[in-house]
Amino acid sequence: MIVLGIETTCDETAAAVVERQANGRGRILSNLVLSQIADHKAFGGVVPEIAARAHVEMLDVLISRAMHEAERGFHQIHGVAAAAGPGLIGGVIVGLTTAKAIALVREKPLIAVNHLEAHALTARLTDHVPFPYCLFLASGGHTQIVAVRGVGDYVRLGTTLDDAIGEAFDKTAKLLGLGYPGGPQVEKEAKFGDAGRFSLPRPMAGRVDCDFSLSGLKTALRLEAEKIAPLTDEDVCDLCAAFQQAVVDVVADRLRQGLRMFRDTFGMPSSLVAAGGVAANEAIRKILHRLAFESGTVLVVPPAELCTDNGAMIAWAGAERLALGLTDTLDVSPRARWPLAEVTKPSRAAPTFVPPAPDLAERNAGAADA
Ligand code: KG4
Ligand code: ZN
Repeated sequence: MIVLGIETTCDETAAAVVERQANGRGRILSNLVLSQIADHKAFGGVVPEIAARAHVEMLDVLISRAMHEAERGFHQIHGVAAAAGPGLIGGVIVGLTTAKAIALVREKPLIAVNHLEAHALTARLTDHVPFPYCLFLASGGHTQIVAVRGVGDYVRLGTTLDDAIGEAFDKTAKLLGLGYPGGPQVEKEAKFGDAGRFSLPRPMAGRVDCDFSLSGLKTALRLEAEKIAPLTDEDVCDLCAAFQQAVVDVVADRLRQGLRMFRDTFGMPSSLVAAGGVAANEAIRKILHRLAFESGTVLVVPPAELCTDNGAMIAWAGAERLALGLTDTLDVSPRARWPLAEVTKPSRAAPTFVPPAPDLAERNAGAADA
């Protein structure tokens, strides 16, 4: 089964074509991501209106390139998937409307994919990870610990009460005069810094739940920076190192708790899966490895380009849903907010999608792609 996937929920315009084989394994046929970082850099963060306009300008070109690279015509795909939320609504409308148009004209099933579900299922595309597993999703917009029990079957164990981890990295970078996006910059500076010079809090550490709170840490860092302003290069490195170490300690404490909650409720997870841009951080990866080992499971981190926003994850989530007969109608709405718990589940008697035989698909091709 072959699915086209479209991602436009934030500042990446992305299109990809992915194949889901009958044995459930995945193969990426093309995966194109156009980052808008340059468009937003001057503003120190994503400007929704600029993002939406940039998606409009580039999406059609990107889709045709993705189809070309995959060496597939529209007649050869079995469905069109687009991220229908959560995200910046202007961008979501662009991607979903484009997918609807293709689905309508090419008479293909439409799959309105939850962006978080796509992050959650990526490890099945890259590593064929079996259910259930424990997901740690840490991006610019989300910080969640989720029990992934099946397609459409997610239990959120913990979330952030205020800022997402990536957002905290970005705000720290902005405060210290580093570039956007901030995570990679903070990590770079932290390598040369002394984490012990400042004493920052570890918010929520020791609590029995597995929620996060990052805004107090960000404020504490600002107060430390104000005390010693103007900042030298060494100060910036030390502040970055102290901040990153505090985040690592918080992740260790919260995720240790999350894994315990997972085991108590659902038994042993097949793995600990990391997703989202923050998973690219080496210090965080290191602690995730240790946590997985401590709790007797393994860490699975998809390659960096599939941890950050991309079209392949949307196409794959679309394929997983399509395989279970989970499709959407053309009147499905884009959603700025869409918690994972509200994603539709397959019913027990879910019809299984069987792709048409290749010869039939080929015969239908002529008219469709002419
Ligand atoms: O998943 P993603 O590409 O986009 C969404 O937010 O959905 O994640 C981007 C976030 C940004 O906040 C960025 O600063 C953060 O991930 N990030 C990092 C690193 N690389 C990206 N944070 C810490 N360390 C990094 N190396
Ligand atoms: Zn994302």
